[in-house]
Amino acid sequence: MTLSDILIKAGQATPSADNSQPWLFVTKASTFSVMYDSKRVLNKTFKPDAHATYLSIGALLENLNQMCREVKVTLQWNFPETFNPDNPVYFEAQLKEGNLNINEAEFANHPLFSRHTYRFPFQKKQIPSQIIDAVVAKKTEYAKAVVITDNNKIRDMASLVKDASQIRFQTQEIHEWLGRSLRFGKQAMQTRDGLDVATLDLPPGGSLFMRFISDWRRMKAMNFLGTHKFMSWVDSMPVKSAPAIIAIIGQAGFRETLSAGQLMQSIWIDLNEQGIAVHPYYVVPDQMNRLKDGVVPKDLQQQAEQVSKQTRNLLDLQENEVFHMLFRVGYPTKNNTKRSLRLPLDKLCNTIPTNS
Ligand SMILES: Cc1cc2nc3c(=O)[nH]c(=O)nc-3n(C[C@H](O)[C@H](O)[C@H](O)COP(=O)(O)O)c2cc1C
Repeated sequence: MTLSDILIKAGQATPSADNSQPWLFVTKASTFSVMYDSKRVLNKTFKPDAHATYLSIGALLENLNQMCREVKVTLQWNFPETFNPDNPVYFEAQLKEGNLNINEAEFANHPLFSRHTYRFPFQKKQIPSQIIDAVVAKKTEYAKAVVITDNNKIRDMASLVKDASQIRFQTQEIHEWLGRSLRFGKQAMQTRDGLDVATLDLPPGGSLFMRFISDWRRMKAMNFLGTHKFMSWVDSMPVKSAPAIIAIIGQAGFRETLSAGQLMQSIWIDLNEQGIAVHPYYVVPDQMNRLKDGVVPKDLQQQAEQVSKQTRNLLDLQENEVFHMLFRVGYPTKNNTKRSLRLPLDKLCNTIPTNS
């Protein structure tokens, strides 16, 4: 295996919103680049320069760096001064060791391949303080993790998740993305992307219900009966009973958000390795970003402003700080839960001949 083969494998395992896997690995001569795959995902998920995409790309960078350390290779990543969505290269490096002879079995057990999303209930057991301290100590120049174990604060955050989620279930664009990314039954095996409903903690009949409301016209009609309230309540309940939640906080901007994504991924990998399950909740940061971008529907703007203000207070955010991601964490009640699949490598890679 070459170094680029191994990097691509590590990149493939990265988490992304709705498992959209928006990346494309391009190899031209000895240059290895990570790009947005506009052809495959544009208008189907977050845009190339969206906050959620930057977070995933940061997570991808963390995977690549962890793999480089594993195979004892140092790479110099180059980043664009400002990210250009029309030429969406996030970063690249020269692979001088392109022909490294790496044995697949040597790195296949790396913990980055076992990291996964867990959406089921947790045990009541608390997280040991030394694990919490290690999470907090991972702080970087641009991002930090705040661990909350106080029950009242956890309940307050759950309530904000509920409020943000209510906005989300009334927003056509987000609902249509979700509808398009849901995978039922064998579909998940066939497409190897999207949100496999078997990875969600749904009650009996839940899958059918999800299929029914995945059409925006139906959801919109059902919202007159309060379906958005019910769905957001269901969404936020697991946060309320979590033994701990983690907020990833940092600065706004391309490199800064990549850095937050790296921290998020590093914490996620470490916690999973120690048997602690992680369930990301993006809905609050998403609504805060949408509000900043002016894309929250008019009739929901006041609610979004309330969510943003209350979240900033709860997390004690400084003026220049932004909330990147929320994790619900705890010891799992279920083992070997279904994992999301990944697209085959030929869909994620593009090798450009040197003379083109
Ligand atoms: C930026 C980002 C946002 C995410 N938001 C959520 C979320 O709000 N709720 C959720 O259950 N999972 C969320 N996820 C988890 C993804 O759905 C998950 O990573 C993806 O389906 C792949 O599954 P895996 O993590 O098990 O590999 C998010 C992941 C990322 C990177």
